[in-house]
Amino acid sequence: MSQTGSDISQARTILTAGNTVAIPTETVYGLAANALNTAAVAQIFSIKKRPTFDPLIVHTHSIDALYSFVRELPEAARLLAEAFWPGPLTLLLPKKSIIPDLVTSGLDRVAVRIPDHPLTLALLQSLDFPLAAPSANPFGYISPTTAQHVADQLGNEVEYILDGGASNVGVESTIVGWEDGKATVMRVGGLSIEAIENVIGKVNVLAVSSSNPAAPGMLKSHYAPRIPMRAGNISELIQQYTSKKIAVLSFQHAYPAVHMNYILSKTGDLNEAAQHLFAAMRELDATDADIILTEFVPATGLGLAINDRLKRACAEE
Ligand code: TXA
Ligand code: MG
Repeated sequence: MSQTGSDISQARTILTAGNTVAIPTETVYGLAANALNTAAVAQIFSIKKRPTFDPLIVHTHSIDALYSFVRELPEAARLLAEAFWPGPLTLLLPKKSIIPDLVTSGLDRVAVRIPDHPLTLALLQSLDFPLAAPSANPFGYISPTTAQHVADQLGNEVEYILDGGASNVGVESTIVGWEDGKATVMRVGGLSIEAIENVIGKVNVLAVSSSNPAAPGMLKSHYAPRIPMRAGNISELIQQYTSKKIAVLSFQHAYPAVHMNYILSKTGDLNEAAQHLFAAMRELDATDADIILTEFVPATGLGLAINDRLKRACAEE
């Protein structure tokens, strides 16, 4: 069984030895290893049962530290980095050869971010290497937003879980890359498009938010609970599934006649809804309901990321 605690030096010892530690970030918990050590990175893929064509995000603590593994920070990327790091933003940047091919699935660009969490920033500062870290869930399942979520699923596989409390953004980082010089959002996430456009102007947003150019569309079903999930008008859906035991994941309003109902934000606050989204999906998935019915939220601010995760949770394959 893994140990849970807030001991940075213990985490540092394990990571320095080439093993994995689960780390808290403001978005979701990550499963971290030395990004410069291929054998350590290989452990991440094997623990998560993640296909090696799906590359990892590298985490560091400062823009200065980034230059040890990134060739350059183009102007628009620098503006975004200065405006939003530490924070829920990942940038795709040209990599130096010190980053193993396994981290980027052979791509020439590495995904980088500086996470906004005091424990993890202190840990990163204490290390002389960056950390590769995908979300700390088995491949295809819901991302963890607490240390307990990690322990529930990877407790036998990861030696230490650094407990930094509940993630306060709640959805993964927004990924920005450049295609033919044009800023492109590859995955909507915890930093809103509006905030990005305020700094660098209009950006492209990929319709199918598959952030992996090597395998577009392949990862549509993601974040999926075990119990089937359907999105739409909840009242109408309830009528369609009268013979089933129904759990409802609603944005603002209650649906009293069902087996269980989780409301994301009674005041209709999209940030609060994002914060609770994955814990809500896990909680409903742990019931004996036959089906989870949900609805999309307004497509503004973090609403885009929430709707993207709901869509993927409902996707069949
Ligand atoms: O908020 C987050 O981003 C969290 C925390 C732990 O930092 N991490 C996270 O990692 O969500 P993960 O592995 O679950 O999702 C990373 C996404 C993947 O969809 C992957 O395809 C994409 O980033 N990605 C990573 N490196 C890439 C690259 N070089 N080019 C294109 N996409 C990349
Ligand atoms: Mg993930």
